[in-house]
Amino acid sequence: MIREARSIVVLTGAGVSAESGISTFRDAEMGLWAKYDPMELAHIDAFHRDPELVTRWYHWRFTRCKDCTPNPGHHALAELQRQTEARGGSFSLLTQNVDGLHQRAGSTNVSEIHGTILTWRCTKTGKHHELEDIDFSSFPPTSEAGGILRPNVIWFGEMLPEKELERAFSDSSTCDVFMSVGTSSVVQPAASLIDLAKSHGARTIEVNLEPTPISESVDVSLFGKAGEELPKVLDQLNGEA
Ligand code: APR
Repeated sequence: MIREARSIVVLTGAGVSAESGISTFRDAEMGLWAKYDPMELAHIDAFHRDPELVTRWYHWRFTRCKDCTPNPGHHALAELQRQTEARGGSFSLLTQNVDGLHQRAGSTNVSEIHGTILTWRCTKTGKHHELEDIDFSSFPPTSEAGGILRPNVIWFGEMLPEKELERAFSDSSTCDVFMSVGTSSVVQPAASLIDLAKSHGARTIEVNLEPTPISESVDVSLFGKAGEELPKVLDQLNGEA
C-alpha cells in the first residue's frame, strides 16, 4: 500500500511521543500535575481564569520536552518521508503534538495543527518570543510591552489556524494512504481527517496500542508501540523483514 502510494498523509498524536517520555493526554499525568485534568488546563477559559496556573503547566511541559529526545517512531516517520519523496511521492505529516520532536527527528514541512509550546506570544502585541528570551522567574510571564505571554498552542475553545486547517483538509482529500499514529481519534477536526481521506478512496492504516473509534474502519490495524511498529513497516518496505 505504502510502496505504491503517490501521496501519503500521516496524522500523529501524543502516542508517538509516549516512548520519548512525554505522557499522553489521556494517561494520568504523573507527579505534581496529577491532580489536574489536561482537558481543564488546555482551555482558553482556564488561561483567562488562571493565567498563572496555565502558564506554569506549559512551562513544566516544555521543560520536560526539552529533556526528551525523538524515539524510533519519530525517526521512522522521517525516513518514510525521505523515501516517499525520493521516489517522487508526496508526504504530509500532520501532528497534534506540540513538542517539536518530529522536527528534531528530521521530518520536514510538518504541520502542527494544534500549535507548539516552543514559541510563546504576547497577548497584548501578538509578538512571538522564543523560549530562551522569556523570563520565567514569575508567572504568568510578561513581555516588555507589559502583556501576558502565552504558548502558541491551540487551546480547546480556540479555532485551528486557517492555513494549517486548509492544508490538513486538502492533503487528506488527495492522499492515497492515510496513516493515523498514536491518537485517540476523539478530538475534532483531526479525528475526521481519516474519514475525508477514505471518502476520496484512500487506504487507511492505524498504529495504536489499543483500539480507538476508527479501528473498526481502517484497512490495516497495527496494534503495538509506534516506536516498534513503524520501524517494522520500514524494514518491510526495505525488504529487511
Ligand atoms: N504507541 C502508539 N500509540 C500509543 C502509545 C505508543 N507507545 N502510547 C499511547 N498510545 C495511544 C493511546 O492508546 C491513545 O489512543 O496514543 C493515544 C493518545 O491519545 P491522547 O492522549 O488522547 O492524545 P491525542 O490523541 O494526541 O489527543 C488529541 O487532544 O488533549 C487534546 O489537543 C490535545 O492534541 C491533543 C488532542
